[in-house]
Amino acid sequence: MFAYINLLYLLIAVGSASPIVYPRTTNDTNPFVFTNSNGLNFTQMNATLPNVTIFATGGTIAGSSSSTTATTGYTSGAVGILTLIDAVPAILNISNVAGVQISNVGSEDVTSTLLLKMAKQINEFVCGDPTMAGAVVTHGTDVLEETAFFLDATVNCGKPVIIVGAMRPSTAISADGPYNLLEAVTVAASPLAKDRGAMVVMNDRIVSAYYVTKTNANTLDTFKAIEMGNLGELISDTPYFFYPPVKPTGKKAYSIANVTSIPRVDILFAYEDMHNDTLYNAVLSGAKGIVIAGAGAGGVSTSFNYAIEDVINNYGIPIVQSTRAMSGEVPTSDISTDSALHIASGYLNPMKSRVLLGILLAHNKNMTQIAKAFAGSTDD
Ligand code: SIN
Repeated sequence: MFAYINLLYLLIAVGSASPIVYPRTTNDTNPFVFTNSNGLNFTQMNATLPNVTIFATGGTIAGSSSSTTATTGYTSGAVGILTLIDAVPAILNISNVAGVQISNVGSEDVTSTLLLKMAKQINEFVCGDPTMAGAVVTHGTDVLEETAFFLDATVNCGKPVIIVGAMRPSTAISADGPYNLLEAVTVAASPLAKDRGAMVVMNDRIVSAYYVTKTNANTLDTFKAIEMGNLGELISDTPYFFYPPVKPTGKKAYSIANVTSIPRVDILFAYEDMHNDTLYNAVLSGAKGIVIAGAGAGGVSTSFNYAIEDVINNYGIPIVQSTRAMSGEVPTSDISTDSALHIASGYLNPMKSRVLLGILLAHNKNMTQIAKAFAGSTDD
């Protein structure tokens, strides 16, 4: 075991020939050389390099399988943050890194409590510390876009927040996690990445967290902003941004310093012959806001539309109409009537609409204020 660890550290030193790699202790219990004032442990502290903190949550990037060819049926969130960092010695050429293990779960188990913890820690450990350049969050890909959107809305200090995952578990042949992690740290450490909000970096692409969505359940090239495109890409681990820093239209920043919980928001998927009781069931189950993944530009049946108006007017519950289509807009003009305050999601998909509605409810926004917050994302 000790011979293996020594070999690993020797490989790290060889792989990072140019920066200074300070000697690390040769046992598993104390691999750190520097602890900062927030108690973050760095595995290297080279004064010529920027500092990045990696917040690990689990997912396939930390997944493990007994088969090197399995890309399904493996265990998500099985490998710890130090192992992930140690698997990519080239990271130490780019930055000093500290790892924070927020959780080690499949992303379906990420809760709003975990999201709040993550955003608060990034605000404190990265935004609040002038010595930190940026943050990386390792995450399962399935609901990664929701976490990315939440962090984009709630961490707003101009430092890059990069969300990264992998489509193949760490034990697979040609696992994508290590290179994705290297690229994520590279972008987080780059001055070019400042003032661009949160970004998803995977498969050589840099995509805005505000717009990105998972477009394919299996393939590596899954994260895209279909209409809006990529902010940039990486070639040979060098980031190239296509545009100067720019804010997505309609994006607003929210402080979560005093937020202790996010109210429940349910998403209802529209389909032919949809029954109105699905809506009332959500209300009776405790939803404080509802998002409809409507057909086309937010469409629901005539009868379901009456049910929506009943819930808005008589239960005081905001309902945002989004689309079940992969891309496109729900404009206000498509869903408005005179008898209730319908809220159109604009260009926000149902998952992002749910996150935004939860944040707005956590800030005790009323129905009109909620409609106004969404209006920035629509063109009418
Ligand atoms: C997950 O989302 O945790 C599992 C799938 C993945 O990370 O790709």
